[in-house]
Amino acid sequence: MTSPFTLHSQASDCAARRGEVRTLHGTVQTPVFMPVGTQATVKGVTPENLKELGAQIILGNTYHLYIRPGHELIRSFGGLHKFMNWDQPILTDSGGFQIFSLKDLTKITEEGAAFKSHLDGSKLFLSPEDAVAVQEALGSDIMMCLDTCIPYPATREEAIASTDLTGRWAKRSRAAHKERGQLLFGIIQGGMYPDLRAKAVEELVEVGFDGYALGGLSVGEPAELMMEITEEIAALMPADYPRYLMGVGTPENLVEAVYRGIDMFDCVMPTRNARNGMLFTSSGRLVIKNARHQDDQRPVDEECDCYTCRHYSRAYLRHLFMAREILSSQLNTIHNLHYYVGLMARIRKAIEEDRFAQFRQEFYAKRTVE
Ligand code: GUN
Ligand code: ZN
Repeated sequence: MTSPFTLHSQASDCAARRGEVRTLHGTVQTPVFMPVGTQATVKGVTPENLKELGAQIILGNTYHLYIRPGHELIRSFGGLHKFMNWDQPILTDSGGFQIFSLKDLTKITEEGAAFKSHLDGSKLFLSPEDAVAVQEALGSDIMMCLDTCIPYPATREEAIASTDLTGRWAKRSRAAHKERGQLLFGIIQGGMYPDLRAKAVEELVEVGFDGYALGGLSVGEPAELMMEITEEIAALMPADYPRYLMGVGTPENLVEAVYRGIDMFDCVMPTRNARNGMLFTSSGRLVIKNARHQDDQRPVDEECDCYTCRHYSRAYLRHLFMAREILSSQLNTIHNLHYYVGLMARIRKAIEEDRFAQFRQEFYAKRTVE
């Protein structure tokens, strides 16, 4: 099977790598951060905003779009790209994680996941084949296999059962997606048991996917454990295919995971925290409602050249937040996404120049506020 991934360069003193993933809607430069657009919108920003701040690819959710407005409706508009007016790549998550998060509403069997809609309680069913069919209808560039995510902590028995089922579902997903073009990624589960994860990698590689994702991390385990697993398993993931760490994370997590060889990330943190008034800056985190920003004429981040920082003061952003104005969410989201996307651009440049380990040290040295 031909890989959609090309490796451009590899750091000499750590596992960081610089590459690209080719998709139907263009090529993505990696390492990359994907803003989360669960409901066919990245909350608070327009596709035009996303392009201006430098986003290359966004993430959508099969589960949500299947429930509302329905994949057939989106298909009738020519797919998710046309429906939401975004012509760059889209990765859709399979629904496995939502089913895990809403577990009181879900029953998992060999066949698939029976669940109740979180909207109206109606009964729905999603098999691995359905998840592929829904993502084909959405027309996403990268589709994810339906998986089952393991909670933390979990017993070895629970982890084995769930990991094996995810493996069988991965085979069925691969069989259900015949034509190539749209890429299909396999998801590695295994909880906090490295040997189960190693076996999962082997089995998925045997089936053959266009990329491999680490799932079931950032589910409440200590950060050091997440990085231990990431380091050990990333080293076993095929070097000539993209490696995606799902649902991660903080800026520190991104730097640490790139250091260990990860290429792709997604997380709600920059968008969700923006709406709650928490801003990411080159010197650390900033809580905009704090009284000390009341008459501060400086931008959020002196080093940032985003639309928000070019035009607005901390005092104005604090005012918008206190007054609960809609523009507060918009401007904060533009800044936070610009920070994440910009961080990845700086990471890519550092790897190209083979100074990523040094970049990582400077990244921590600059962080003065928490
Ligand atoms: N997003 C974050 N973690 C996961 C996971 O384990 N599975 C899926 N499908 N999505 C995720
Ligand atoms: Zn900014």
